[in-house]
Amino acid sequence: MKTKSKLLKWAGSKSQVADQITPYLNFELPYIEPFCGSAVFFFENLPSNCHLNDLNADLISFFRHVREVPREVWSCYNSIPVEEDAYYLARAKYNDLGDSPEKAGHFVYLNHFCFNGLYRTNKAGRFNTPYGGHHKPKKKLTETEFGHFSNKLRDVRLTSEDFEKFLFGLKPAGSCIYMDPPYFTDDERVFGEYGASTFKNNDLQRLFKVAVALSDQNRIVISYKNCSEFLELFSDFVVGDIAVTRNVGGFAGRRKSEKELVAVLGA
Ligand SMILES: C[S@@+](CC[C@H](N)C(=O)[O-])C[C@H]1O[C@@H](n2cnc3c(N)ncnc32)[C@H](O)[C@@H]1O
Repeated sequence: MKTKSKLLKWAGSKSQVADQITPYLNFELPYIEPFCGSAVFFFENLPSNCHLNDLNADLISFFRHVREVPREVWSCYNSIPVEEDAYYLARAKYNDLGDSPEKAGHFVYLNHFCFNGLYRTNKAGRFNTPYGGHHKPKKKLTETEFGHFSNKLRDVRLTSEDFEKFLFGLKPAGSCIYMDPPYFTDDERVFGEYGASTFKNNDLQRLFKVAVALSDQNRIVISYKNCSEFLELFSDFVVGDIAVTRNVGGFAGRRKSEKELVAVLGA
């Protein structure tokens, strides 16, 4: 069943540019996303054989709870009012909750009403994105919609590991692997604040090593910022570019249009 609603609003989501990337992907093959975020391509194309992974353990746990106990997750999400005070209370509670349907309910509530769908944590790993509900419609997803998302997730494998450990552990063959890592930054201050939502130069080198190693038996598609660090490694494999509009300057919320590159390795 097709539904237009999105389960999550993820910073860096490919939802607006999915139709520019989809032609490079092959959903007939086993489909793998090591940096799945909101899993836009999975929900839009529903490949029958799919493995989603993301370093963000709370995100993956959220997907698992939606699959297994959608009504409990929805009840919690639906019970929290969309107003600033309630948001900050929910944020404090989320950071103290253990893995549970209640935590998953808080996760999706915070995601929908935080600033720009940004999953920002402090150095202690506590989620600290401010309220963003002022300019958003206050409409929530319905229980029925949660039920549809639950059905879609029924047969998906879900893991939370660093991409390199995940892929070398999985040893895929004959698969289509789409990689959409966070953008490169060498700024220590940004890295400290945004944690897993940024990539360092050595992460890009790890990405290159993994992509080359798996490319003899798989189709690897990577989308990435048009930057010298990416081109130094991947220029032989760039097949096109896509136009994206992105937020710059963190919470300043400025938006700018730029090109992102698409690289393809393997068949
Ligand atoms: C640009 S977002 C992916 C967006 C996704 N394509 C979408 O449309 O929603 C990058 C994702 O990589 C994850 N991530 C960051 N470092 C990672 C790592 N070392 N291994 C696996 N996932 C990582 C982040 O948690 C984030 O969800």
